[in-house]
Amino acid sequence: AGVFTYDPGFTSTASCDSTITFIDGDKGELLHRGYPIDQLAAKSHYLEVCYLLLYGSLPSAAELEHFENTITRHTMIHEQMHNFFRGFRRDAHPMAIMVGAVGAMAAFYHDSTDISSPREREIASHRLIAKVPTIAAMAYKYSIGQPFVYPRNDLDYAANFLHMCFAVPAEEYNVDPILARAMDRIFTLHADHEQNASTSTVRLASSSGANPFACIAAGIACLWGPAHGGANQACLEMLKEIGTPDRIPEFIARAKDKNDPFRLMGFGHRVYKNFDPRATVMKQSADEVLDLLGVENNPILATAKELEKAALADDYFAEKKLFPNVDFYSGVILEAMGFPTSMFTPIFALSRTVGWISQWKEQLGDPQMKIGRPRQLYLGETVRDYVDIEKR
Ligand code: CMC
Repeated sequence: AGVFTYDPGFTSTASCDSTITFIDGDKGELLHRGYPIDQLAAKSHYLEVCYLLLYGSLPSAAELEHFENTITRHTMIHEQMHNFFRGFRRDAHPMAIMVGAVGAMAAFYHDSTDISSPREREIASHRLIAKVPTIAAMAYKYSIGQPFVYPRNDLDYAANFLHMCFAVPAEEYNVDPILARAMDRIFTLHADHEQNASTSTVRLASSSGANPFACIAAGIACLWGPAHGGANQACLEMLKEIGTPDRIPEFIARAKDKNDPFRLMGFGHRVYKNFDPRATVMKQSADEVLDLLGVENNPILATAKELEKAALADDYFAEKKLFPNVDFYSGVILEAMGFPTSMFTPIFALSRTVGWISQWKEQLGDPQMKIGRPRQLYLGETVRDYVDIEKR
């Protein structure tokens, strides 16, 4: 039967080799193609990071311009897909719509499902990076009963997303550049994170030869869970449940109680056991946005600030190395911008699409690629004879 190791949760199994992203959890280091995330967040912007992840090096000015034009050209979705959205219930979670709509792209863009063609693989990558924000914004508009807002190609990627979410036909909407920058940072900081659960899901789906839209839909489905991308929504819901800063000690006591399954959402990380370098940048961004929007009167944000302080000062969290993670601060920023919590995970999904696509592309170019097929440790019954129903 061969020898294999038992590794639940794959905590010590490398499933592939990769040249895209490097993480050193003890040092709190995250590099994309060798570049530290804090430098990328400070000096670069999302579409440039997309280029870097996809192609392996920073673009020249001409390459960047060409890439940005290409992505911009693909931002609209097939008009018939509008009907597909209308089939969902109004109160559908936008993640449910995204799983469906991104998977359905395979039915609208047949040409890009041919993974044997490098040219079609390239176009599929561009289509996904360009259209997933449009799909996320449409899922939001549908849920609040507002008309879909078409993309505007004169705006940059982040500003266009804010426009598609918050503009209405009845009045002019101007995107605040500080908010567009904060949005771009959220996208940049979530762009890739090596072999996490959703990325591994994309690779596993792709290993069977599935088309790129199906693979990314699988990644979105996996990201939805509260231990992964759903943590930002879960974190904000927790802050709402806490309600006011005076109730923080009660919730901290619950998080420390071994008999209570409650955890502080937005704290802790599987890989970062000292600090999450993305959280440091996101915290700065959160402070900027909160200053701009003057949200002192928002009890949720006041609770967030106090909870951060209280947990950082608590021995339990210090000993277990549980620090606020990227989702803690991104949730705070998105709340301040006016996004409902149900949109937090879709925003994570659209940001991570480039990471999934880059890993998918790398995997398809890997001569060692095999279908993913983990083994198991069987603990069930040994062989036994079938018993007729009247004798059971
Ligand atoms: N609140 C209270 N206690 C916690 C928490 C928390 N948020 N996280 C971990 N612990 C405790 C846990 O009870 C355990 O204690 P003990 O050793 O006494 O049994 C210890 O810390 C280690 O926890 P673990 O679950 O073995 O650690 P893990 O590496 O498997 O889990 C995690 C990492 C992120 C799933 C976990 O910290 C967690 O559930 N955090 C809350 C959810 C969250 O914010 N997730 C977002 C992660 S970042 C975004 C992403 O990657 O998608």
